[in-house]
Amino acid sequence: MLEQLDQIEEKALTSLNDVDSPDALEKWRVMHLGRSSPLMQIFDAIGQVPKEERPLIGKRANQVKRSLETRLAEREEALRQEELHQSLQTERLDVTLPGRPAGRGRLHPSTMIHRRISAILEEMGFQPYLSRDVETDSFNFQLLNFPLHHPAREMQDSFYVAGGFPIGESSENDPVLLRTHTSPGQIHAMRELAASDPQNPPSVRIYLPGMCYRYEQVTARSEFQFTQVEGLAVGKHITFSDLKGTLEDFARRMYGQFVRTRFRAAHFPFTEPSAEMDIECFVCNGAGCPVCKRSGWLEVLGSGMVHPVVLSNGGYDPNVYTGFAFGMGPERMAMLRHRIEDIRYFWSNDLRFLEQF
Ligand code: DAH
Repeated sequence: MLEQLDQIEEKALTSLNDVDSPDALEKWRVMHLGRSSPLMQIFDAIGQVPKEERPLIGKRANQVKRSLETRLAEREEALRQEELHQSLQTERLDVTLPGRPAGRGRLHPSTMIHRRISAILEEMGFQPYLSRDVETDSFNFQLLNFPLHHPAREMQDSFYVAGGFPIGESSENDPVLLRTHTSPGQIHAMRELAASDPQNPPSVRIYLPGMCYRYEQVTARSEFQFTQVEGLAVGKHITFSDLKGTLEDFARRMYGQFVRTRFRAAHFPFTEPSAEMDIECFVCNGAGCPVCKRSGWLEVLGSGMVHPVVLSNGGYDPNVYTGFAFGMGPERMAMLRHRIEDIRYFWSNDLRFLEQF
């Protein structure tokens, strides 16, 4: 039996040299270490061997078994290494190749002009105030001194929200709509500040940026969605010259030191008196051209002294407080600046347009 064991070992180890794949290795394992392999048959037969010989045979059988198992593990590892080596050869990766550059994003032209406007207004001491996009008729119109059925509402055709929206104040006579301008934020901001000290409300110096919506036919000059930046200053001795000085300073910071401005009388229900500010056309320097429709001037914003009705709706006593407000259209300003001839480019997400900025 001992001899038999020697043969088993030799035969198995010799044939292991021919094993060259994981499949073949598994076959080898079954053949030489499996349940019905010659080695296992020896283990089964040990019981019939005379008692004195058993320890010796048992010991040798175990030795052979361990030797086969060890070589099996070695061979397995060797095959794995070989396979790895093979795949490194065939699937070679050149890590020194330069990478593909990731496309760099950029800001939307509307975002850029907003940042510029915000930076200027903040330098001038105005703080940002964010107000809601969904409004009630009261805030969008009535509290701003647009009475119900007043023709001035026709300047701002509106998207009404069917069935209203549960934002507290809405009711049947007070429908909900998407704000048509940022001016309703004036009332929200004044009320919030006045609530902090109703007897002696703090002065206000804020700007309100945001999206506005109008039920307009979409054309090259008007979109149903656009942004505005509103400004509001309320205090005890604010006059029209503060309004003029502030807006002229704004224009200089925005368009350069030598920009010329002019104020024209206008009408808005929430300001009295009201004015529109023009800047001298920077395409023709005031000589007249198609961009300024031959007038030499470009309209950039609406403004005025806050109407007493609006002040008191905001919680500020118009006998004590005065203020000025203004509202500008950043897309319009960007259009003038970059001579963009169609406002629809702003929200159509055409990369050929967006990538020019
Ligand atoms: N809300 C006005 C509009 O959308 C713009 C405006 C004009 C705002 C005069 C103001 C202002 O604050 O004083 O047409």
